[in-house]
Amino acid sequence: MSLSKYTKYFTAKSFKEYYDILREHATKDQSTPRTILAALGTVVLIRQSFRFLGFVYRNFLRGGYDLAKRYGAPSWVVVTGASDGIGKAFAFEFASLGFNVVIIGRNKAKCEKVIEEIKGFNPKAELKLIVADFANSFKPGFYDDIYSELKDLDISVLVNNVGDNQRGLFATKTPKSLWDLVTVDTLPQSALTHMLIRKLSTRGKNRAAIINMSSIVSDYNFVYNCVYAAAKRFDEIQTRALIEEYGDKVDFLCLKPGWVLTQLAIGIREAWNATTAQKFVKHSLKQLAHENVVKGHWKHEVVALHLDYFLWS
Ligand SMILES: NC(=O)c1ccc[n+]([C@@H]2O[C@H](COP(=O)([O-])OP(=O)(O)OC[C@H]3O[C@@H](n4cnc5c(N)ncnc54)[C@H](OP(=O)(O)O)[C@@H]3O)[C@@H](O)[C@H]2O)c1
Repeated sequence: MSLSKYTKYFTAKSFKEYYDILREHATKDQSTPRTILAALGTVVLIRQSFRFLGFVYRNFLRGGYDLAKRYGAPSWVVVTGASDGIGKAFAFEFASLGFNVVIIGRNKAKCEKVIEEIKGFNPKAELKLIVADFANSFKPGFYDDIYSELKDLDISVLVNNVGDNQRGLFATKTPKSLWDLVTVDTLPQSALTHMLIRKLSTRGKNRAAIINMSSIVSDYNFVYNCVYAAAKRFDEIQTRALIEEYGDKVDFLCLKPGWVLTQLAIGIREAWNATTAQKFVKHSLKQLAHENVVKGHWKHEVVALHLDYFLWS
């Protein structure tokens, strides 16, 4: 069968016409296997074209919501792990949009520096600092102090960002480091969401949002990073279930990035597969209220495609 005959598949105006062409080729050429392959190829091509168009639309054409309007700035945004990296970039971004920010971190001096920097570009922003080491968050009463600081605020957005990561062969990790990792990467998301969900889901005319930091590694059996990958899977599964329970009142965004240039990804440089925390946060926030579970940045969608097709499938 010549190439021009194949092109007919793409110009068919209806399914009937498409199947007629298929039948005609099958009888004429007596080459049913080739015809079936051509049909399968067409289906795959159409599917991938839609996937590609979706990727372009989501990442480059569709604009983000006006978050100040949607969530009612100047309400409060709570960010965990806000002293550095992605959390700090979220705190900066929301403050620049006119929100007040609660900075939660374990290192008081680093958090105070973040507050100073925010005051530098938005002197009107109200900022609150809560010092908390989430490695202790399994201890009874740990969240009581946090609750008393948050209970009277009009909170519109919770960013469950805090996370810890240690790469390496499983047996080389200390029991304490594993315990800390599981604690920090899972418990704060559950506990803070539980603490604030009633408040967030009953805001009245303004909606609320919860942003949870998972990771691209949660999609794979990530060797040398298995506990982290499992903890990040926990974050995603919990978000997906909460979307079923509260998605009509709260916008959930579960982010699953690849490399973002922070302390956690030390040694990585900006490239086709890695982006800065600022760019990542700006791009992710364009997806808020449009999507529920996404990589966050277009570069990481490309990475995921690469992993799906070339490494794991
Ligand atoms: N960077 C990436 O490539 C990447 C990829 C996928 C997912 N993520 C996720 O993104 C989130 C943010 O990570 P990041 O890249 O921004 O890392 P980062 O630069 O290391 O920042 C982590 C933040 O969490 C804080 N933190 C860590 N352990 C804490 C504890 N026990 N108690 C209180 N605060 C604690 C850190 O405080 P200090 O300033 O005191 O250290 C810092 O503010 C994490 O959930 C991570 O799993 C990151």
